[in-house]
Amino acid sequence: MNKISIIGTGYVGLVTGVGMAEFGNQVVCSDIDKTKIDNLNSGILPIYEPGLEEIIKRNIKYNRLSFSSNVGESILESDVIVIAVGTPEGENGQADMSFVFSVAETISNNLNSYKLVVTKSTVPIGSGKLIAGLINDRVNNQKLFDYVSNPEFLREGSALKDFLWPDRVIIGTNSDKAYEIMRNVYRPLYINKNPITRTSIETAEMIKYASNSFLALKISYINEIANLCEAVGADVHKVANAMGQDGRISDKFLHPGPGFGGSCFPKDLEALLSISEDNNVKMKTVEAAIMANKNQKKRMVKKLIKLFNGNIKNKKIAILGLAFKANTDDIRESSSIIMINSLINRGVSINAYDPIANSQMAKIINSIKYFDNLYDAVSNVDAVVVMTEWNEFRSLDLNKIKSKMSGDVFLDTRNIISMDELSSFGFVYDNVGRIKK
Ligand code: UDX
Repeated sequence: MNKISIIGTGYVGLVTGVGMAEFGNQVVCSDIDKTKIDNLNSGILPIYEPGLEEIIKRNIKYNRLSFSSNVGESILESDVIVIAVGTPEGENGQADMSFVFSVAETISNNLNSYKLVVTKSTVPIGSGKLIAGLINDRVNNQKLFDYVSNPEFLREGSALKDFLWPDRVIIGTNSDKAYEIMRNVYRPLYINKNPITRTSIETAEMIKYASNSFLALKISYINEIANLCEAVGADVHKVANAMGQDGRISDKFLHPGPGFGGSCFPKDLEALLSISEDNNVKMKTVEAAIMANKNQKKRMVKKLIKLFNGNIKNKKIAILGLAFKANTDDIRESSSIIMINSLINRGVSINAYDPIANSQMAKIINSIKYFDNLYDAVSNVDAVVVMTEWNEFRSLDLNKIKSKMSGDVFLDTRNIISMDELSSFGFVYDNVGRIKK
């Protein structure tokens, strides 16, 4: 059984830790944030992720998973050390590597026997060499460790599924021994013939950025197609479906909306662009995907203003959905932030409702009203705007909503509300790239 220490108990660290425990490894998730660890030990999770609480409980019960705030000790007791700390966007879009380097230092102080150093955090291409170099300079014994880049491809909201049944696992290393240990860590996948691909460290680091940027590019592309559909009278859903029937394109990530957000795409695109600039390689497609996304977020605000014929000042508007996507309480880079701030600046008062992300948004925006009940939030408002594709918004009682509202404007930025229903209840509505009834 591999003894694994995961450093960093954020989103990636927790899911990776519990996932590796589920695969039969002995895992300790550690973090310098003692409060976080105390909370985890009392069953309080720092994030919301479907299924996570249950699977953590199960693995604790079977003694495969524990939490510790003594990072050094957890390294001493493990054979595989996984770096899973944040790499937030730093100056000029570059990823801020200070947490990663600080963990590398802690690792070098606790290398009492041969260990694998594995990076899960998304780091700029070339970081593996820097991390391994830093540890090597400090311990001065190259035989004491091997380095692996093992990027994550976890979607918030379905991260456990993505970890336990991945499309692929990338193991970037120049050591055969390290590769074998990693295959063993992922043994159930290897037995089930899930594709495990070995690459160089730099290739593994690149795969992560290339994959995320491509997905983001796809979204920006379909959003721009949707915008053109509006101008020429075509229906983007039919276009996207038909495009997706071509296996070379695939129908995934062709859903138009208010622009992508989250903790990965916006930051990873900026980081890739910054890497490309450092290497004097132009990446116009990535630049365009970023720009199109910023425009898309602003476009949603313009759509709403247009529904009011430009007279939006002093209106009262309900924003349904604050999270950057459904099944998460994460609001980072959420399109709803741009929407809310733009409306506040235009003298609009806002009622906000999200099934789980109200408190997260309240940490950064406190000048709006938050509601625990959707139908209270729409009471006496001039307009309703759907910003997140929560399942409960797919089956809204539009009749009830209309009777509670004082106005009749409805903006569906996720295209989840039936246009037939919107028109039959007399809403003045808009969505993204569809032919209106
Ligand atoms: C992403 C990657 O998918 C995952 O592999 C990774 O490594 C972490 O980053 P995540 O940010 O959790 O995952 O969410 P994802 O489901 O990819 O959605 C990102 C954003 O794109 C969201 O704002 C979502 O609403 C938007 N999106 C997604 C669309 O607008 N249209 C789509 O068709 C798909």
